[in-house]
Amino acid sequence: MKYHITTMGCQLNENDSEKISGIVENMGYEKTEKIEEADLVIYNTCCVRENAEERLFGKLGELKKQKEEQGTIIAIGGCMMQEPHILEKMKQSYNYIDIVFGTHTLHKFEEDLKKATEKKIKIRDVIDIDGEVIEDLPIKRNDKYKASVTIMYGCNNFCSYCIVPYVRGRERSRKPEKILEEIKNLSKEGYKEVTLLGQNVNSYNGGNEYKFSNLLNDVCKIDGIEKIRFISPHPKDFTDDVIESIANNEKISRIIHLPLQSGSTKVLKEMNRKYTKQQYLDLVDKMKEKIPNVLFSTDIIVGFPGETEEDFEDTLDVVRKVNFEQIFMFIYSRRKGTVADKKENQIPEEIKHERFEKLKELYDSRVSLNNQKYIGTTQRILVDGYSKNDKTILTGRTDSNKVVNFYGTENLIGKMIDIKITEEHKWYLKGEI
Ligand code: 5AD
Ligand code: SF4
Repeated sequence: MKYHITTMGCQLNENDSEKISGIVENMGYEKTEKIEEADLVIYNTCCVRENAEERLFGKLGELKKQKEEQGTIIAIGGCMMQEPHILEKMKQSYNYIDIVFGTHTLHKFEEDLKKATEKKIKIRDVIDIDGEVIEDLPIKRNDKYKASVTIMYGCNNFCSYCIVPYVRGRERSRKPEKILEEIKNLSKEGYKEVTLLGQNVNSYNGGNEYKFSNLLNDVCKIDGIEKIRFISPHPKDFTDDVIESIANNEKISRIIHLPLQSGSTKVLKEMNRKYTKQQYLDLVDKMKEKIPNVLFSTDIIVGFPGETEEDFEDTLDVVRKVNFEQIFMFIYSRRKGTVADKKENQIPEEIKHERFEKLKELYDSRVSLNNQKYIGTTQRILVDGYSKNDKTILTGRTDSNKVVNFYGTENLIGKMIDIKITEEHKWYLKGEI
């Protein structure tokens, strides 16, 4: 029996999909990249932005044919299924789907799948409560050297544009012992890099005053793990103890993902982000002072309701001042049930797109200049494998996530090595061992 899984959205969803893969592989299914030969097709959905919905419903239409011809079992799960209007639509118009599961019922996937295959029952397993933290699910990881470790679930922040708190529930942190045990095992299996995941990692609460900074310090003590990353922190919770942990631990990546969302204090307030433009800039300055060579990446939304040209200029101003290594840019997307969706001053689509293009232009125009700082430096990188386009060239990423290509031999794959950077090519760097 073969299964095919498609993951939409963020790394938390990727990590959930690794668990779903672990569960079905334990049941004897084998992974295939060809959807048409799969006996079981799984979609793990995202609902952060609107366009994913159209894509999913298009796919479901195509799958109906495959099901009629081959009896394929179809399972659709994840964040989108937690939205009441989507669940209703699934119940009304997609009754041929075998399993619909939410974000709180992953641990029941084996049971649900057995019922669907053996008893031919249609399963609708979506619950609206905050799930418990379920430990020790099997997992089939996508990568051999880098692993994601979810440290907390849910979000309490209710940023006014965001659907996540409604579909993922309130914050629940895993116990520190469980996280550390997982990472120690990863190290034994040969993993070199871990990314700690959560919607708001720096509000991690391990109980008994054990905070995110304590967790960072303890993960750093695990032998064999050479690089530690985390996404995403919230600027409002970036306390001094976390900054200190980073400054004191070389293993922690020097690129910090610090979601800005908007550079305008007025828009930030409307977004319920709980910091001002100046507080964000002050935080960046403090981190630059305390953590030598620190770099930043960010998320920015353009076209939030009521955003004026002046507000947008504030965003561009922060982009110029901080010099982000990477910007994940999003056009504001209305999400049913959120506070911002009810606002009357929505921005016309063409203006949103115009601003998106302007932001992209500003960012693009600075990439090469930003890259100059790498030339002549030595960067420690984890060798990922061969370059996609040329099998004589190895590739890896700097700590700051820049692709580096260089000549080298196969035995280096999976190792951390030093590369001297010789050239920059906008979207990648070239170097020598
Ligand atoms: N519209 C556009 N972007 C959004 N994001 C979250 N919600 C929305 C929305 N409704 C972006 C934010 C967040 C990232 C994961 O997705 O920038 O940090
Ligand atoms: Fe959404 Fe804000 Fe929570 Fe991030 S912190 S998941 S943007 S509500």
